[in-house]
Amino acid sequence: MDFTFCAINVNVTNLEKQLMLAEVLDIPDDLYHENGFRGCRMLGIYNGGGQLGGPVKGRSTSKGQFKYTTAGERCPTIQSVLVEKIFPFMNPIGRVTILRTRAGSGLNVHLDTLENEIGTRQHKYRLVLNGEIDKLFFIDENNKKVFMPNEYNSYVLDGSHPHSIDPANEEKITLCVGAPWHGEDNKLYSNLVKNSNYSIKVSRPTVIDPKWVDPFFKYKTTDENIRA
Ligand SMILES: [Fe+2]
Repeated sequence: MDFTFCAINVNVTNLEKQLMLAEVLDIPDDLYHENGFRGCRMLGIYNGGGQLGGPVKGRSTSKGQFKYTTAGERCPTIQSVLVEKIFPFMNPIGRVTILRTRAGSGLNVHLDTLENEIGTRQHKYRLVLNGEIDKLFFIDENNKKVFMPNEYNSYVLDGSHPHSIDPANEEKITLCVGAPWHGEDNKLYSNLVKNSNYSIKVSRPTVIDPKWVDPFFKYKTTDENIRA
């Protein structure tokens, strides 16, 4: 389980991928919100409520009842793929968000976790519905970018390792599942990791640039909000 990036095959078919993408493209713009820190648009699909899937007065969204958002309710294929192919290897089930990065613009290098969580298990699941996968990179101990291969659209990454994507020709649209799931052990998940066709461990940078850490976390209380 000690990897930076691990391709896992959850058997999502091409047809399902096309239907999921069509569902996302059909969601009106006003349901999205901009994430200035990362530099992309986000769309909540399954979470504990609130615009960002974040704090709802009087309850913890990381332990509370999760449900499909208004956008998520419009996406029957996404729901069935989640229930049949993704949620079964997760315990607890994670928050689901769509991330869209416009063509020609990359993301800022960032952590999907707090700095003091570096090195703990902080797995994030990704299913790329559109765009170039090999623009994803991790920063290594020499502050160099280590790029991932283009072949695998379904993978888990270590969200506590500084990462980003470079500008691409196509818009990148990714289904993301994060906290409260962190890659907790179970038989199904360890088999997926064991049967991976590609897994890599990248060395960590020795110094963490404060710019890589989401300023949102400074104001964070108990919620895990946008740790997609
Ligand atoms: Fe990220």
